[in-house]
Amino acid sequence: MALKTLITEQQIQTRIAEIGAQIDADYPEGTLYLICILKGACFFLADLARAVKRDAFIEFMGISSYGKGKTSSGEVKITKDLDISLQDAHVLIVEDIIDSGVTLNYLTSLLQTRKPKSVRIATLLDKPERRIRHVDVAYVGFQIPDEFVVGYGLDYAERYRNLREVCILEP
Ligand code: IMP
Ligand code: MG
Repeated sequence: MALKTLITEQQIQTRIAEIGAQIDADYPEGTLYLICILKGACFFLADLARAVKRDAFIEFMGISSYGKGKTSSGEVKITKDLDISLQDAHVLIVEDIIDSGVTLNYLTSLLQTRKPKSVRIATLLDKPERRIRHVDVAYVGFQIPDEFVVGYGLDYAERYRNLREVCILEP
């Protein structure tokens, strides 16, 4: 399989700085939790959290909806839940990519039941063509075509997460 660079390290970092500034401008006072969806969003979370200058807390959540292949199982499972209360806090879900929307549609409704002040989503990548469930996304790094991508946290069978850029994985 061959890797073709789609988004360079520099493009990623420039865009994250912009999103961080936007988050600083958008959020009023109050507790802000950045919730990293493991494992794919780990590098995005690390860079985004440091691009945000306001006070922010980081938390991690494990969710799986994908098996080892390239297609969603359509089933969402919480593999690691939060151990904090979200009551009266602003919650920003930090995700690597939105594909069908199944994962975030489910997760947003779940977190809403925990009485936060707000729930928003920041995703590095978005494949709008693939959407089958509605998701409101507040912050999008890049809209990409319907291609399977890896790198900067994204994997194929757990490989390629440690690439610095986002690449298309070609057969
Ligand atoms: P959704 O529920 O279909 O929106 O799937 C979201 C999850 O599928 C993401 O968090 C990724 O883990 C995975 N995923 C979707 N598209 C890709 C891709 O192109 N490369 C790697 N993982 C992907
Ligand atoms: Mg993911």
